[in-house]
Parts: sequence; structure tokens; C-alpha cells
Amino acid sequence: MIKGFIFDLDGVITDTAEQHYVAWKKLSDQMGWQFDRELNDQLRGISRLDSIKVILDHNQIEISEEELNHLATEKNEKYVESLDEITPTDFLPGAEELLTHLRQEGFNVALGSASKNAKKVLEQLNAVRYFDVIGDGNSVSKSKPAPAIFLNGAEKMGLQPEECIVIEDAEKGIDAAKAGGFYSVGIGPQDRVGHSDLRFDEMSQATLFEIKSYFKDLF
Ligand code: BG6
Ligand code: MG
Repeated sequence: MIKGFIFDLDGVITDTAEQHYVAWKKLSDQMGWQFDRELNDQLRGISRLDSIKVILDHNQIEISEEELNHLATEKNEKYVESLDEITPTDFLPGAEELLTHLRQEGFNVALGSASKNAKKVLEQLNAVRYFDVIGDGNSVSKSKPAPAIFLNGAEKMGLQPEECIVIEDAEKGIDAAKAGGFYSVGIGPQDRVGHSDLRFDEMSQATLFEIKSYFKDLF
């Protein structure tokens, strides 16, 4: 039976996936690196340092560990600057409704985000109150597609993976959910999250009614 939900943050609860893109794009332009939305999609769900490594590999550039850390920090500064503009009106359509329904029906709810800025984003949205457990980029060391962040969330809720549904917009996030034995709901196109158990193009379609209808034997 399903007793809990684990939410990704960026691209599921709010559109910070776009703000991550803008920050990487600014850094890439500054450095003369090729970077586009297609490459950005490969960064969904993965840590800051893994992200810069993907961009450098793509551009066939090698730099020192020190420079890499420095540039990742620079991207983060650009990203963090944009977070002050987030307000409680910036939930992706449908996200707050789903969180509210889950609360009303007494489900356990955890955040399972790779971001070290997740708390700040939840605070800006005034969304901390929707979560029993907040797992972020500081909670575990192995990033998605490893299931660690979701296993940590389930454990803190006192639940088994098969009692939880993970909601994710990243290909590697769905990989992580599957690797951990969780049910999954993918938000986004077929070629990104088509391997989820249930997929919606947009968060607004991911209502508790639709989710319950699909996983009907589990509720
Ligand atoms: C994930 C995003 O949620 O967090 C990634 O999908 C991002 O794009 C990762 O790289 C790490 O975020 P941060 O805020 O710690 O740089
Ligand atoms: Mg995401």
C-alpha cells in the first residue's frame, strides 16, 4: 500500500530547472563553451559538480580540480542570485494542489532533491510546511541515478520503498527511483521520463485522483 510520496524539487515543484539552465548558459557563454537545452536536460537531477563535468566532457575540455570547483561555485552564485525572486506564486501549476491533497489525506511527504539550495527554494515558496522530511544535496553523498536520496527519505518517513511513489522530471531521477524499488511518476516528455510507471507531460496533470486511478490496487 502507498503511504508516502517523495518529491523532486527543481522541475517538479517549481521551475528552477529553467534557472539552473540560465546560470549554466551564462557561465558557458562566458567561457566560450557550447551549451544548449539538450545538454541541459542531461543535467537534470545530477549534482553541481557532476553537471560541470558533463559540460566539460561535452566540450572536450580538461581543467584542474581547483578550476572546476571555482567555476561550479561561480555558476552557483549566478543561480542563487535568481532565487530571491521566487515567491509563493511560483509553484508549477498543480504542484501545490497535489501537496495540499496529500496533506489532507494524511500521506507522508518527503523532499528528495539533489540541490544544496533546496531549503532556500522551499522557504521562498513557503512550502516547508508540506514536508515531513527534507532530503537535499547535503543529505547523501551519492547523487542520482543512485537511489540514496530516495532511500534516505523513505527511511526517515519510516517507510519501505514499495510504500512510496517518487515524482521526478529527470531521466536519472526515474533511474534512481527504479533502482531503489520505488514506484515512479515522471513529469516531462517520453524520451526523458518514459521509463517511469506513470508519465504526465505537465505537473498540472499529476492530480492525486489520476495517480490513485492508475495505481488503484495500491491505495
Ligand atoms: C537538481 C537539479 O535538483 O539539483 C540539477 O535538477 C542541479 O540541475 C542539482 O545541478 C544540484 O543543485 P545545486 O543547487 O546544489 O547546484
Ligand atoms: Mg528535477
